[in-house]
Amino acid sequence: MSRPSGARPRVPLPPGPALAPSILSADFARLAEEIAAVTEGGAGLLHLDVMDGHFVPNLTIGPPVVASVRKTTSLPLDVHLMIEEPDRYIERFIDAGADMISVHQEAVPHLHRTVHLIREHGALAGVALNPATPIATLDDILPDLDHVLLMSVNPGFGGQKFLPSVVAKIEALRGRLEARGLAARIEVDGGVAADNLPALLRAGATLFVAGSAVFDGKDPRARAAALAALCERGPGAR
Ligand code: DX5
Ligand code: ZN
Repeated sequence: MSRPSGARPRVPLPPGPALAPSILSADFARLAEEIAAVTEGGAGLLHLDVMDGHFVPNLTIGPPVVASVRKTTSLPLDVHLMIEEPDRYIERFIDAGADMISVHQEAVPHLHRTVHLIREHGALAGVALNPATPIATLDDILPDLDHVLLMSVNPGFGGQKFLPSVVAKIEALRGRLEARGLAARIEVDGGVAADNLPALLRAGATLFVAGSAVFDGKDPRARAAALAALCERGPGAR
């Protein structure tokens, strides 16, 4: 059953800056344990990367995994669709438990229609931009967005090198949002780690996706806690 037009998400987002661990780098055979660990560490939401082998050269998860994750956690679920023709699947992902959906500008010919499809089904709607896509492409749709996801790697894989050009892009987008009195959140995704998170926060991002920085290694709870602490220190942190 779909939620009515204009409904709020089932799970509200944290009001301030928050860490969104990407389960792409987690051990899928122990997913519930991995999610429990990052929740204890202070994750504010969970990021789920959906790849179709067409828009990006990799395949990952679909609605059944989102539904299983939904049963194991009360965190908001942030679903990043790196797929062609996302309109065909949006309702299924929201029914499975997605609270936020991002679609790629580069994959969607009728963004206005797609964004409103997401909202009609009761989730927060966002658009993701690849590193080479300028923010000006969102000027006309910005008032309709709950969030903008700025990629700091080319999408498709975890563990890639952070592209620092995203910092200026975040600053520019923050400026445009403030000049127009718009409240869309800025999310950054790709290579986010302790050495760049403070600069991303200062630039104006408030949602921080981190995959390998959280899950590569032995202690995802401690790694999430260290990144969550940087989020909590606020934009003044250095
Ligand atoms: C990349 C995905 C990211 C990825 C981030 O296409 O969108 O969410 O999981 O992983 P790291 O943090 O390792 O770059
Ligand atoms: Zn992602």
